[in-house]
Parts: sequence; C-alpha cells; structure tokens
Amino acid sequence: MVPSSAGVLVADGAAVRERVSIGDRTIIGRGVTIENDCTIGSFVKIETGAYITAYSVLENRVFIAPMVATSNDRFIGRTEERFKHFKGVTVMRGGRVGVGAVLLPGITIGPDGVVAAGAIVTRDVPARKIAMGCPARVVREVAEAELLDHQIWDDVRLGQS
Ligand SMILES: CC(C)(COP(=O)(O)OP(=O)(O)OC[C@H]1O[C@@H](n2cnc3c(N)ncnc32)[C@H](O)[C@@H]1OP(=O)(O)O)[C@@H](O)C(=O)NCCC(=O)NCCS
Repeated sequence: MVPSSAGVLVADGAAVRERVSIGDRTIIGRGVTIENDCTIGSFVKIETGAYITAYSVLENRVFIAPMVATSNDRFIGRTEERFKHFKGVTVMRGGRVGVGAVLLPGITIGPDGVVAAGAIVTRDVPARKIAMGCPARVVREVAEAELLDHQIWDDVRLGQS
C-alpha cells in the first residue's frame, strides 16, 4: 500500500483498499475508509471516520472533516443502468468538506470550494464558493484569507502542491 509516497500517516483502524494512490504528507485519520480505485493527492487530510467511495479523486490540500460520507451509485445497487452512471466524487485542489456532510455520486467540489457541516451536496460546488444546507446551496464566496494561495505554508509558496 502507498509504497512510494513520503510521510503518509495512516491511523489505526483505517482501511485503504486496492488500486488507491496517496500523495506525500497525506494524513488518513482514525477509522477512515478509502474504497478501491481512488486517487488521493498530497497534503490531504481525511479525518476520523470519513468514508471515501470507490473511484473518487481528492486533489492536493483537500480537507475532509470527520464522518463525511461520499457515494458513487445513484441507483443504490439496483438495475443494470446503474453501471453506466457509477461515479465517485472529485474534490479539487484545496477543497474542504465540513463534518458529517454527504456528497452524492459524481459530485465535484471546485478548487477552494467549501461544503458546510451537515450539508447534503446534490449539485457541483463551484470554485471558491461555500455551499450549505440540505440540499446544499451556494451562500457566499470563501473569504480571501482562507484561500489556499493565501496560506503561508512553505510548500504552497514554493508551488510544490
Ligand atoms: C459553513 C460555515 C463555515 C459557515 O460559517 P459562518 O459563515 O461563520 O456562519 P455563521 O455562524 O455566521 O452563520 C451564518 C448563518 O448560516 C447558518 N449556518 C452556519 N453553518 C451552517 C451549516 N453548517 N448548515 C446550515 N446552516 C448553517 C447559521 O445558522 C446562520 O444562520 P442565521 O443567520 O439564519 O442565524 C460553518 O458553519 C461550517 O459549517 N463550518 C464547518 C465546520 C467543520 O466541519 N469543521 C471541520 C473540522 S472539525
């Protein structure tokens, strides 16, 4: 598992399935499950109990809060039709998903996009927007000070992630 990545931390009780790649310095928290065929970037944080469904992509610097749930099968295990639509979620660079949020199949969170705690995300969230509620709706822009490119971490400034 993740043989070539540096500084990856996988906490106790976490499960990382087959054909998953994980970038450098990523933290997989306690009891997290990452299903098969996911691509996880560098400097990603996936916190306690989060569930990352198969065929998902989390780009660099993504933050997934505790108990976030993601899904990939709109038809919940019924019909042959479902195989045509099977799709994991994508959280683009610097995207953040709040505690207990639910992402429906195929959802994309744009770069620096934010999902509020407890939201049910049924539509893509554009870059640098905050979506909130059930179903989630965009409520405002992410504050400038929170944007990834405004952080002072050395590796961000140097353009390494
Ligand atoms: C989305 C979030 C950033 C909004 O913060 P904020 O803009 O400071 O929001 P405020 O506390 O000023 O609340 C503004 C309004 O939004 C509502 N609201 C805030 N968070 C909400 C949420 N998650 N879902 C639904 N409504 C929410 C508030 O009730 C308030 O409504 P009101 O004006 O009718 O009273 C924040 O509430 C949130 O969800 N943070 C994520 C926490 C988290 O998961 N952290 C992970 C590490 S543990």
